[in-house]
Amino acid sequence: MQSHHEGPGPEGSATTVKDPAPVDHAVRFDKVSLMFRSRRNSTPVEALHEVTFDVREREFCAIVGPSGCGKSTLLNLVAGLTPATGGQVTVHGRPVTGLVPDIGYVTQDSNLLPWLTVDENIRLPLQIRRTPAEEQDRLVDQWITLVGLDQFRTSYPHQLSGGMQKRCSIARTLVYDPPILLMDEPFGALDAMTKAVMQGTLLDIWDQHQKTVLFVTHDLSEALTLADRVIVMSRRPGRVKAAEPVGIPRPRDAFHISELREFAEQHRVLWDMFAAEISMGGLSK
Ligand SMILES: Nc1ncnc2c1ncn2[C@@H]1O[C@H](COP(=O)(O)OP(=O)(O)OP(=O)(O)O)[C@@H](O)[C@H]1O
Ligand SMILES: [Mg+2]
Repeated sequence: MQSHHEGPGPEGSATTVKDPAPVDHAVRFDKVSLMFRSRRNSTPVEALHEVTFDVREREFCAIVGPSGCGKSTLLNLVAGLTPATGGQVTVHGRPVTGLVPDIGYVTQDSNLLPWLTVDENIRLPLQIRRTPAEEQDRLVDQWITLVGLDQFRTSYPHQLSGGMQKRCSIARTLVYDPPILLMDEPFGALDAMTKAVMQGTLLDIWDQHQKTVLFVTHDLSEALTLADRVIVMSRRPGRVKAAEPVGIPRPRDAFHISELREFAEQHRVLWDMFAAEISMGGLSK
């Protein structure tokens, strides 16, 4: 079945489908395909081919795969930014037919508003939701500190490094506590130390709030550090090659997890699958 993009604006427009029966999965991909047709007469690009998997309620699900295999496209489908051309995506049992409310999306680009300061960027989703002013102040303070931007509260995005922009973008998404989080390589631009700190912070948030997370990464170690399950995608057109449960007990320590024997074993299994996709014709275009 085809889904349609009908959302009128970037924040908070809802799908209008009657309440479905309760389901135990937060997100379902059911034979989802996507063919991009950019211009008339241009060759269509098949980004995804019959992708099928469920993300359970409060599951931390990592998605890995070679560049261009459709990882960002998968997240765009869940957020309702891109309509599928085949199959169906459902969120909490409702088919996605437009922008989905209550999904937090840390996109691959930071997408900060350049005319707003760090404080104002992080505050914006709270203002849109009409959060009381005192609560806004408390949450903005909390998140600015958590992502280490206290000294840059009044700076504009162009005055920040790439990693700092990314941290600001993460704070702007987490500040309003969305039940489903989509994260597209959120820590890719960070140095190793900040990355481990941010991974630790995300693990703490997930432990405390048990959100459903779809987390795209190129980094197999990061996937194993964070996730309950790793979805390995094939090169383009993206298909699900494997769905590997991560058998490393929680709570996990982002700084020391790589010393565990289970970690090394699972890393080897994942790497073998991943490398096969890269070596079959190189990185996909
Ligand atoms: N709007 C679009 N129009 C046409 N083709 C597109 C569009 N968006 C993505 N594609 C194509 O779809 C494929 C998948 O793109 P996508 O951005 O989802 O890959 P990705 O797995 O996120 O890659 P990376 O790891 O490099 O970020 C690519 O071949 C890309 O060129
Ligand atoms: Mg991408």
